[in-house]
Amino acid sequence: MFITFEGLDFSGKSTQAKMLHEYLKSKKISSVLLREPGGTTISEKVREIILDREHIEMTPLTEFMLFSASRSQLVSQVIKPHLKKGFVVICDRYYDSSTAYQSYGGKMELKQVLEVNDIATGGLKPDMTILIDIAPKAAFSRANLRGNAKDRMENKNLAYYNKVYKGFKDIANRNKKRFVVIKGSLTISEIHNSIIEKVNKKLKINY
Ligand code: TYD
Repeated sequence: MFITFEGLDFSGKSTQAKMLHEYLKSKKISSVLLREPGGTTISEKVREIILDREHIEMTPLTEFMLFSASRSQLVSQVIKPHLKKGFVVICDRYYDSSTAYQSYGGKMELKQVLEVNDIATGGLKPDMTILIDIAPKAAFSRANLRGNAKDRMENKNLAYYNKVYKGFKDIANRNKKRFVVIKGSLTISEIHNSIIEKVNKKLKINY
């Protein structure tokens, strides 16, 4: 089973991805936790190029191609082999992030992004995508609390966050079967509990 986490920066999805991974380990279910961009030596190097605050000249197409290259390597080198071995693969962000950030939030055309997403992943679709739904304003104010430590992608304005947010909502509406949308304003443990309820149902575990 392939589970992805999506949401705005500072939505709390990385914490939830980790908690799900710990939960599955405690149930002796083989699972692996990955993050995007990253997860392989090559992908981590690409991540550094993408997020470097000095790279202000990067074009939208270069940025999108780098995210896609990083993802393609991760899918071939880690995700597919683990799924084959029967692992639950948890990925903190996947191609829906490219759709939301590079197309809805950025300058890339939606049709092209969806096509390249498909090419980069060889059509590998998540079985379940958990969207942590946090209002753009809340994400933005959390981002600003971090001050200067923001990376290139986080260093954006509220209008951008609004567009990305609308993107995630649209993608979720178009893919109702695979998406689970959870309110990010709930407590960490409430969010975790509703995630494990959905995952258990899907994995057909009765605990
Ligand atoms: P990261 O520090 O991992 O953010 P987070 O912990 O919130 O996931 O940085 C990843 C940044 O890259 C984040 O701002 C979202 C952005 N991103 C895209 O724009 N497109 C993508 O395809 C992916 C995977 C991430």
